[in-house]
Amino acid sequence: MDKILIHGGHPLSGSIKVSGSKNSSLPILAATLLTREPCVVYGVPDLSDTHYMLQILMHLGAQVERASGTVSVTAEKIQSVAPYDVVRRMRASVCVLGPLLGRCKEATVSLPGGCVIGDRPIDLHLQGFEALGAAVRVESGDIKVFAPKLTGAVINMHGKFGPTVLGTDNVMMAAVLADGVTVIEGAAQEPEVVDLATFLNKMGAKIEGAGTRRIIIEGVPALHGAEHRVIPDRIEAGTFLVAGAIAGKEVTVKRVNPEHVRAVTDALTRCGLAINVKDDAISILPNGHASALDLTTEPYPGFPTDMQAQMCALLSTSKGTSSVTENVFPQRYMHVAELKRMGAQVELEGATAVIDGVDCLLGAPVMASDLRASAALVLAGLKADGITEVSRVYHIDRGYEHLDEKLSELGAHIERVKAA
Ligand code: EPZ
Repeated sequence: MDKILIHGGHPLSGSIKVSGSKNSSLPILAATLLTREPCVVYGVPDLSDTHYMLQILMHLGAQVERASGTVSVTAEKIQSVAPYDVVRRMRASVCVLGPLLGRCKEATVSLPGGCVIGDRPIDLHLQGFEALGAAVRVESGDIKVFAPKLTGAVINMHGKFGPTVLGTDNVMMAAVLADGVTVIEGAAQEPEVVDLATFLNKMGAKIEGAGTRRIIIEGVPALHGAEHRVIPDRIEAGTFLVAGAIAGKEVTVKRVNPEHVRAVTDALTRCGLAINVKDDAISILPNGHASALDLTTEPYPGFPTDMQAQMCALLSTSKGTSSVTENVFPQRYMHVAELKRMGAQVELEGATAVIDGVDCLLGAPVMASDLRASAALVLAGLKADGITEVSRVYHIDRGYEHLDEKLSELGAHIERVKAA
């Protein structure tokens, strides 16, 4: 397994172009299953997760071509069974259930594995399918859904931890070909949900209200092919802004939608850091030490859970005592033990991390555990004294397009050591 070595203490400066959104690409690629006509998706990032999704589409029978960020999919004849050995690698594979149910009126998809950020139930997805008239069975590790026909319904997608992003996506993709009108109450408002709805409407769907808590879908008989460019990855943008906050003189992220990153830029401003926004570029001008902050993760437009680990890395060397409360995935603290190996002073109290900022962290061998925790450890290593060695970097490659190369372009002394 590859490792990444970071030689701390080298300031970052310059700009990077943000890649297309992983969390927009995955459901949009799944949505190409809803038509037999060709679709073209632009700006798909080169990640393990997008690679896995294309493998699933091909396994289901779609023709797939990829030329750098441009992916063409023609799902003319498809079967509706996605077995464990292709689904097991990525939990987000669950978002092929909705389009398969919508198109084929049946689907069998292996239950997604759990993951280190916590329990990943899909009860709300399945309740949504049942509300549309599907029969749902879970047997020998597979989810089987079947519906002689799908009929529009009023469905609430709000669970005890708030709305579900992929649940909203899945129900929307099943409802676009249902008879009648579906109303999704308590819908997720993430920009990636809006991007999916935009793509579906380009395919001939009739969806209104995406981005609000209430999405209305009028079913249509069939969808046609479409072309679409995915939105920029707001979490990658936020990750580089935090890198700038930790180790930068001035760092600019380009090709980003500032509105999508507002909760992160607001948090960095509250830390006392200067942020400049100009068109599709955001710059951060750190002034030495950030100050402490009390932070709570919330569904969009609140502070994103996918940026929580990165902020913990920043707050570990911010003056004062900070608290970070994780409301979306309360167990999402795999990065804490590794940050403590680097000298961070963090105590977990349930879903809250209390962080006493230290002057600086010390480089150490640390282990990546999930996508965003891994990024947080790389960020912490940027300013730590000495060398930080992050192992199991395949976690990073799942969701960041060439993270180490982009940080090198900004001046980081970072190298990837290929596994022997
Ligand atoms: C999406 O996951 C993202 N993944 C996650 O990003 C992100 O952390 C998450 O949304 C929250 O924003 C993709 O878009 C591919 P949820 P998703 O369903 O949709 C509970 C990353 O790092 N829940 O919105 O799977 C669930 O346990 C990844 O890029 C139920 O209770 O997350 C969680 O506590 C990690 N029942 C909360 O809702 C359900 O049926 C939000 O989960 C579904 C979810």
